[in-house]
Amino acid sequence: MEHPPRRHQVIDLDDLSTEEIEEILATTESMKEVLSREIKQVPALRGRNVVNMFFEDSTRTRISFELAARALSANIVNFTARGSSVEKGESLIDTVRTLQSLGADIVVIRHSQSGAPYLVARHFQGAVINAGDGRHAHPTQALLDLFTIRERLGQVRDLRVVIVGDIVHSRVARSNIWGLTRMGAHVTLCAPPTLLGPSQHWLATWPNLTISHSLDEAIKGADVVMALRLQKERMQAGLLPSLREYTRAYGITPERLAQIGEGTLIMHPGPMNEGVEISPEAATAPNSVIEAQVTNGVAVRMALLYRLAG
Ligand code: NCD
Repeated sequence: MEHPPRRHQVIDLDDLSTEEIEEILATTESMKEVLSREIKQVPALRGRNVVNMFFEDSTRTRISFELAARALSANIVNFTARGSSVEKGESLIDTVRTLQSLGADIVVIRHSQSGAPYLVARHFQGAVINAGDGRHAHPTQALLDLFTIRERLGQVRDLRVVIVGDIVHSRVARSNIWGLTRMGAHVTLCAPPTLLGPSQHWLATWPNLTISHSLDEAIKGADVVMALRLQKERMQAGLLPSLREYTRAYGITPERLAQIGEGTLIMHPGPMNEGVEISPEAATAPNSVIEAQVTNGVAVRMALLYRLAG
């Protein structure tokens, strides 16, 4: 593999050019090839220390960073706020300086506060990867989504992608909008007004977005339908009339699954509220790529770890 130019942080996709995204996706292909071998490990990052710093719950993202680091032969340490000095009031900056002194080369951070990874990057001399911060960004999710779409449909350019659900609270949506629009897709945001926020806000940054409040309209002619989890933990009361009504209007129900057609990809970043934003039938349909998204997450994270520290 060729050595790419060094980048020290991936906090969102807003500062990644189309070319750099293409390169990351190409590196991901190589990593996927490594993961298909009988011995799923290469020595690329032997002797490097990766710290997974998760201040918010996670299953797939944390584990896939861990598997990615191991597949590259790096040392990986999992740090959780519980049981650490953070509980004694140590600030994020002190924690990061401590990790620096302990020899960390890469910090992977998930935090409930939007912007926390920027703070880390200012005080850490190694590489920083954002694994999700508040409602701001989740770049590795967006990259694995781009990779999965391209793997299944051959391209991203000119595709019609509908992102439906709790968009206002979604870092997955924000990073995906950067990635998808930069790669030439047409993106429709579909949500009830309370879960979208002001349309002007979105259109000011991305004037080519389509905004819709009707999923039945939005799915007509869509190549990809990406459902988002209702983020109850980030929601104040009163944003939804009832879950049943939400599902009827915005869920990928069996009826909508039939309308969507077999050539259209169904995606969800997980964890799913099955029966709310997506029905079990839709989640397991032949055109659902939800499991592929999880699988591809490991290769994408390998690609980033490699490009940042290789
Ligand atoms: C997402 C997250 O944590 O932002 N999950 C994930 O990383 N796969 C989406 C979510 O929590 O709904």
